[in-house]
Amino acid sequence: MKRHALITGVTGQDGAYLSRYLLEKDYVVFGLVPRSTRYAFANLDYLGVTGDVDFIDGDLADEASLIHAVRRTRPDEVYNLAAQSFVGMSWDQPMWTTDVNACGTLRLLEAVRNFAPAARFYQASTSEMFGNCHENGIQTEETPMHPCSPYAISKLYAYWIVNNYRTSYGMFCVNGILFNHESPIRGKEFVTRKISHNVAKIKLGLSTRIGLGNLESKRDWGFAGDYVEAMYRIVHHETPENFIISTGETHSVREFLELAFRHVGIESWEKHVYIDPAFKRPAELINLRGSSNKAKEKIGWQPKVTFEVLVQMMVDADLERLKVGEIRH
Ligand code: NAP
Ligand code: GDD
Repeated sequence: MKRHALITGVTGQDGAYLSRYLLEKDYVVFGLVPRSTRYAFANLDYLGVTGDVDFIDGDLADEASLIHAVRRTRPDEVYNLAAQSFVGMSWDQPMWTTDVNACGTLRLLEAVRNFAPAARFYQASTSEMFGNCHENGIQTEETPMHPCSPYAISKLYAYWIVNNYRTSYGMFCVNGILFNHESPIRGKEFVTRKISHNVAKIKLGLSTRIGLGNLESKRDWGFAGDYVEAMYRIVHHETPENFIISTGETHSVREFLELAFRHVGIESWEKHVYIDPAFKRPAELINLRGSSNKAKEKIGWQPKVTFEVLVQMMVDADLERLKVGEIRH
């Protein structure tokens, strides 16, 4: 019998990579799609798997649609990847962010508890929950959490309600605490893709400047393709446990910029970049660097793609798409 996976957020970056990963493992993949997406399948198209996913209408804001989706798909595994995932926007739309990310997770857990209690439940938790807390410059599963944005606070609620359903009901509910992960199909509102896309445009003479916010922020950036493998391993571990998934390296936005420009042969990048206060945030998370030692020891996971290769991969993909006139991504 093929295993059934229900993925929320299937049209996003991680949803597309995870769909491909599970399809390669011969899963039946069901993807929850809100009406608001207008069925925008660009990411799944890019990875060549749109036709292999079975789509179901549904929205984390709508409890009835989640019950319907769980009953119809009879999942062995549920991956809750759907979210209002853009930190910057969470200050502009805090209620919506909370409803989708926090209450939406609870709605989905209730649907699973009532209609597929044996399913394994994966929650897309985030390094944002740590805020600026660290232990000697690194975050572990034991580091206290002190979220700094409406997004991070909504995700902290989801993290705890998932832990609570594990202890209260004995369900196999787990959190993957993932640090930033990127790819050629990262949304263009996020800083890495904004840079790779604009650097490619500047290289091709289609633009001259990029406006950015805080260049000194540091993030632990990995490759999304590596990280969906970790999700699978977390769900298949013998006991339900939370894991950090990260590279253990941290780099600033400035370093990302320098590498991206250097990759296309532009050394004097400063003249192409200006600081736009619109992209500065009311509260900033200064430095993220995660220890994935527990994941390495218990589920045998390690990142494969380095920071340098990630930057080059993203810039090359944007150059290629601009050259062939691809505008959807
Ligand atoms: P993403 O590209 O922004 O994808 C988010 C997905 O959620 C999209 O498919 C979106 O559909 C869907 N969605 C939004 N609101 C929804 C709703 N009300 N009901 C159902 N679906 C809804 O995010 P990602 O980068 O793939 O991240 C996946 C998950 O991991 C998110 O929960 C994110 O918060 C979390 N996370 C991401 C990272 C990272 O660095 N990428 C790190 C840690 C945690 P539309 O596009 O149609 O709105
Ligand atoms: N988006 C954006 N745009 N960020 C900028 C810009 C800009 O023009 N200029 C500087 N930055 C800085 C932000 O202030 C932040 O410090 C850093 O670049 C990264 O911003 P994002 O790429 O938007 O990602 P994020 O770290 O806020 O959030 C992502 O990672 C989280 C995990 O740590 C998202 O994927 C979240 O969903 C995820 O939970």
